[in-house]
Parts: sequence; structure tokens; C-alpha cells
Amino acid sequence: MNRGVSVAARPVTVTVDGQAVEVPEGSTVREACAKAGVEIPTLCFLENLTPVNVCRVCVVELEGSRALVPSCSRKVEGGMVIHTDTPRVRTSRKMVLELLASSVDLSAAGPEVAEWLAAYGAEPERYGRRAPARTARPDLGEAATVAQPPKVDNALYVRDYSRCILCYKCVEACGEDAQFTFAIAVAGRGFDAHISTEFDVPLPDSACVYCGNCVGVCPTGALMFKSEFDLRQAGAWDPARQTVTPTICPYCGVGCTLELHVQDNRIVKVTSPLDHTVSHGHLCVKGRFGFEFVQDRDPGG
Ligand code: SF4
Ligand code: SF4
Ligand code: FES
Repeated sequence: MNRGVSVAARPVTVTVDGQAVEVPEGSTVREACAKAGVEIPTLCFLENLTPVNVCRVCVVELEGSRALVPSCSRKVEGGMVIHTDTPRVRTSRKMVLELLASSVDLSAAGPEVAEWLAAYGAEPERYGRRAPARTARPDLGEAATVAQPPKVDNALYVRDYSRCILCYKCVEACGEDAQFTFAIAVAGRGFDAHISTEFDVPLPDSACVYCGNCVGVCPTGALMFKSEFDLRQAGAWDPARQTVTPTICPYCGVGCTLELHVQDNRIVKVTSPLDHTVSHGHLCVKGRFGFEFVQDRDPGG
């Protein structure tokens, strides 16, 4: 996991879109861009995970480099000249976003994804209308999609892989970046690549310990609290009516910070801040899902 660079790192100067910035040695190009006030879109990157370089939406042009480079993982070197908004960069990001939007349901992704689609002029519809079911070989005029029914096989969270962009974040969180449970991995090749439990067994039969750390890092809503899923199904999910209250998990002495998302006086999901020094955004099953007791108002119950 990338927990940031050492405070003792020596400074390195690079140029971002004509502006010289100084960042500590070991910083990434993305961090240098941030220092220059340039925000880079990312999908597979998250502060509390090791970069896996799979989405390529964060690419920038680096003078002297033949290929575009992923800014989320490429480390700065003194004298680098970086361009973040060239026609080549824009075309590459547009293509990445178009291909994802043509094959994946991005409607539950964060609002920034829709903003990037508009900003880069993405036209996913030019690949054809979306095939109604997962297929790599769609009919004429249709775009291949990963459309499939959601997997609702436990009481805590739902896996809707029609929303999955295969960013690997859940695999990282379940594995070496947080949980070390390795309940999920990428199976298959090419368009058939997908997130799977061992032998594709239902989640209750897998190694999953229901920490929900995969849910916490998923950028598209492919992994979703069952409580959120049910409210969305009922047309009642409304973030505008929700409050977020930070508190400390009551279950043990570790002291994880919880963010309770509350709608209509009920806890509807729990997150944890990524920059928290104890938990780095990751929780266990109790902190993540053990909130029902709060809502048990029956004194005799
Ligand atoms: S809930 Fe935890 S153990 Fe289960 S798949 Fe997700 S990250 Fe792995
Ligand atoms: S389920 Fe979510 S976190 Fe996992 S690969 Fe798909 S989009 Fe990424
Ligand atoms: S965010 Fe850099 S490759 Fe995905």
C-alpha cells in the first residue's frame, strides 16, 4: 500500500503544463499535477491501495517518452516535462471512457465520471446500442456489454457486475492491501475477464469474511450495501436527504472512524475516511455492517 512519501525525501522539480513545481522524491506524476493545481481523472487508483495501472484514464504525455504514461503510478524524476491536456491525452482518455461506458452500466458511479464523459466528448453510443446481456459477440449494430443480473446472495452486500469496470480495487482490498482474505480474484481472459469467488461459488460459500472493504473501494456501485441496493430498487435512494456523521466504532479498542450515512433516521451505509491513520478506510464486518442494533427501538426486543 502507498502510505505516502517520507518527509525527509529530497525535493524534485518537474514542469506540469508549463508550470514548474517541486515535489518530494518518490512522488507520482499525479501528485505533481495536483501540486500544480491540475486534477487528473482516475478510476483504478485510490489513496489506500497499491496502483495497478489498469484503467489508463489517468495518462499524461511525458516529453521524451514514446508512450503515454499512467500518472497514478509513474514516479517523478527531476526535469520531467509533463503535458496533461494535449490532443493525444484527450483522445486516449475519451476512448477509455467510451469503451467503458459502451459496455458497463456507469449510472451508479460517482458524479465525476459523467463529468469526464462530457468533458472529453465521449460518445459511447457510436459503438451501437448496448447488447441486453453479457456477450463479447453482439448482434450487428449492438455494443458488447457485461450486462447481467445482480448477485443477491447474502444479507449485507450485493454484487452487480453489470456495473464492473474491472478496476481490480476490490481484489486489492480483499488481498494484500487490506484484508488478506483473497476471497475474490479476476477470472477469465479478454472480454470474459470478470471478478469471481473461488470456482464462482456464492459468496456465503466462499472465503469472504464480509469486511466490506471491497464495497468501500468500488468506484461504480458494482459492490453495494444491500440497504442501498434495496432503497435504489424502491426508488427511494436519495443522497440529497442523507447526512454523514463521523463517530468511533463501538466494538473494540482499535478505534476505527466510521462515517454513518443516514437517511430518514436510518443508517443506510457505513464508510471510513481513507486518510485515517488507524484504518486507512478499511473496516471489519462489525464496524462496516453491524449497525442494525442502533435501529432496534423495541425495548423488550
Ligand atoms: S467483504 Fe471482505 S472478505 Fe469479502 S470479498 Fe469483500 S473484501 Fe473480500
Ligand atoms: S467490482 Fe468494483 S472494485 Fe471490483 S473490479 Fe469491479 S468496479 Fe472495480
Ligand atoms: S488511475 Fe492510473 S491507470 Fe487507472
